[in-house]
Amino acid sequence: MPGSKLAVVGAGSVGTSLAYASLIRGSASHVALFDVNALKAEAEVLDLAHGTQFTAAAATVTGGGDIAVTEDADVVVITAGAKQAPGQTRLDLAGTNVRILEQLMPQLLRHAPDAVYVLVTNPCDVLTVAARKISGLPPERVFSSGTVLDTSRLRWLLARRAGVAVASVHASMVGEHGDTEFPVWSGATIGPVPIREWEEGGQRVFTPDYLDETAREVTQAAYKVIAGKGATNYAIGLSGARIVEALLRDENAVLPVSTVLDGPYGISGVALSLPSVVGRGGVHRILHTPMDDDELAALQHSADTLRSTLATLGI
Ligand code: 2OP
Repeated sequence: MPGSKLAVVGAGSVGTSLAYASLIRGSASHVALFDVNALKAEAEVLDLAHGTQFTAAAATVTGGGDIAVTEDADVVVITAGAKQAPGQTRLDLAGTNVRILEQLMPQLLRHAPDAVYVLVTNPCDVLTVAARKISGLPPERVFSSGTVLDTSRLRWLLARRAGVAVASVHASMVGEHGDTEFPVWSGATIGPVPIREWEEGGQRVFTPDYLDETAREVTQAAYKVIAGKGATNYAIGLSGARIVEALLRDENAVLPVSTVLDGPYGISGVALSLPSVVGRGGVHRILHTPMDDDELAALQHSADTLRSTLATLGI
């Protein structure tokens, strides 16, 4: 990826995993890591740089405790902030992380005024609305990783059960990246086969109970990982790297990122995830995804939940 600079803000487990995944996948030609903890950032930069002989493509790694390392980045991914403790929801982090963003965003904009900003810090939907307000950037240039990760979790579960490649499962989690997210089962397919019609030995596999349990498992996935190891990092790192590639390679890839909405499904002023076209410059289009009545109600519930959190924060 010649001439493509990715700046990662936050050298914690998510930021460093995202930087690492981006290097391995060749998502950017230059990865810059910034953290207020300069020693940590510098050590992570060294550790990442030491492996660049073995990455997919030649890449430069820079970084440290001076925010100027983000200078002229094409994409800035923000991972800095408090993370969920076991038992906390993502929304519990809103106040703390909005305050961090209020400090960071104006400084970042001075150094990387033309970048696309991707929020990974949770609650990412809430922070997207805050970042848009703080920055004044158009919604297409400041969005969040949303349910890209949850969609990957969903596809993995379905692929494993069906015995097919993950890439052959077409299904998306939408809504809040959090407890009210849900899968759009009505449009989900494996290859060309609607998920509900997938059979094994003449029997339908994905029964309503099975689908409910799968949706629950996806929504609970992060809690399970956090209970065991204190955080999630690898899968979000890969998800973030995938978004960076779609941006820098101008892929026009359909990904369920979270953008501040202005009208679709009657929703405005709230950011939530819907399948969207992502390419150079950001989100080019939010797709109108057909949904049945239950799914439409779930989408409104997700929007209402996020709206209440925004209201309590005065955003
Ligand atoms: C995740 O879903 C915690 O949002 C993070 O892994």
